[in-house]
Amino acid sequence: MKVVIVENPKAVGAAAAQIIATVVLAKPRAVLGFATGSSPGATYRSLATMVQAVHLDFSEVRGFALDEYVGIPRGHPASYAEVIRREIVEPLGLTPANVSVPDGQAQDLDQAGRDYEEAIIEAGGIDIQILGIGANGHIGFNEPTSSLTSLTRIKTLTESTRRDNARFFDHLSAVPVHCLTQGLGTILRSHELVLVAHGSHKAVALAAAVEGPLTSMVPASVIQLHSRATVIVDEEAASLLTLTQYYRFVASHLP
Ligand code: F6R
Repeated sequence: MKVVIVENPKAVGAAAAQIIATVVLAKPRAVLGFATGSSPGATYRSLATMVQAVHLDFSEVRGFALDEYVGIPRGHPASYAEVIRREIVEPLGLTPANVSVPDGQAQDLDQAGRDYEEAIIEAGGIDIQILGIGANGHIGFNEPTSSLTSLTRIKTLTESTRRDNARFFDHLSAVPVHCLTQGLGTILRSHELVLVAHGSHKAVALAAAVEGPLTSMVPASVIQLHSRATVIVDEEAASLLTLTQYYRFVASHLP
């Protein structure tokens, strides 16, 4: 795992965008995995700047969202389909038909999960998966005790995640209890992972994921099993890491 510590959230976004841009430049029909929430916002904004400044072209890129709420109507401003349309598809100029989000409206959610896995496989797999991390160590909506080999399926959100995400809704009771999320096994199948985090509220989870034991109690620790994972964090999110000197040494002695 490569750990990159930068000064602030904007620099986190710039560094992650650079990695994603490299993938898209090499493969215009690349398949990207999209996280939502606050963490990757700066990454998407940085990519949008590149679209304008250096004509980075996303029109052929395909995308798969990590997760979606169950039980809120299509078009709800907090649904991840809407967030992805607003924050990724439009500013980056993706073709809407090229972007898939788990169907949280499906009658048969188990089948919707299987269909989603099938669609990812048919697209040739995800070239690069963008991840945020929850304060409780989740990635996607794989809450603590998620199976390390899980695939896309319905999950029940923890009370703490619902509280954390209540800021996107009118009140806590409006936050859905269930979601459809790519599993930890799905995430591990991606060719490359980029996890971004900023802020002191992520420091405990980040340190546990990067330097703690591999455990379903910290679902993000599963990235330790991936051979191409980069973690990009600001100083605050990195504040509880113990090997920061080593990570900085590595950055200044690139092979
Ligand atoms: C959402 C997702 C989640 C978030 C995590 C952090 O698609 O994948 O794992 O990345 O909940 O959320 P923020 O960034 O809002 O703190």
